[in-house]
Amino acid sequence: MSKQSMQMTRPVDESVVAAMFDRISARYDFLNRLLSARQDVRWRNLLISMIPTKKGGRYLDVATGTGDVLLAALKAHPEYSTFIGSDISKGMLGFADKKAVMAGISDRVEWRVMSAESISEKTESVDCASISFGLRNVVNKERALSEFARVLKPGGVFLILEFFTPTTGLMSKAFQFYFHQILPKIGSLFSEKEAYSYLPKSVASFYSPSELRDSLRNKGFVIEKEINFLFGACRLVKSRRT
Ligand SMILES: C[S@@+](CC[C@H](N)C(=O)[O-])C[C@H]1O[C@@H](n2cnc3c(N)ncnc32)[C@H](O)[C@@H]1O
Repeated sequence: MSKQSMQMTRPVDESVVAAMFDRISARYDFLNRLLSARQDVRWRNLLISMIPTKKGGRYLDVATGTGDVLLAALKAHPEYSTFIGSDISKGMLGFADKKAVMAGISDRVEWRVMSAESISEKTESVDCASISFGLRNVVNKERALSEFARVLKPGGVFLILEFFTPTTGLMSKAFQFYFHQILPKIGSLFSEKEAYSYLPKSVASFYSPSELRDSLRNKGFVIEKEINFLFGACRLVKSRRT
């Protein structure tokens, strides 16, 4: 492992981030379920419930990883004509593709090796876009948010699911202890230690909820709904492109 990756407290270079996710891709789904006690499934389902009905629409899931959100979106909204899942990690996309093949829906999805910072979609072409547990890993988050604003149609829906640092209450302290002390240890038992130590560090250097709100508004989004999970440690933000 490179020195840069071992010392990474926040994303500094896309190729380092992609290589890290390539290495953990085989264990990614299993550890997600274990570390969140399957709560991640519930959070993603709530995201799916916020997708608008749009016959012939274009759906884009960025930082799609192993494709859970995109595949669930397709199942819930088969009326969309196009489903694009993008990621910078070929390893993660490989597992996403396997799932689509096993579900018999690979002809309906398109996987792209593509960064959130440079979305190869026409301006105002997408009806609904999502990024779940991905924005925190993007090197230039402001550029990524500008890209989402560019590719979404006016009135298009943008869904963000992400971890944040909870700031108040006893439970937030308990969660912080789990996130910083317990989670990296469990992660290291089944996967790569550095990747699961990086997770809490990347959250610590991410936007606060109000910073994310401000940034979205600056890019031309209106915030329609926010749902807190785990005492604010995880949030779902629904916004709409004006
Ligand atoms: C924690 S995983 C989340 C995967 C999936 N969305 C989920 O909900 O399980 C983060 C993903 O973001 C991807 N990623 C990181 N930086 C990215 C970027 N700049 N553009 C696109 N994907 C990126 C990683 O390769 C990884 O697959």
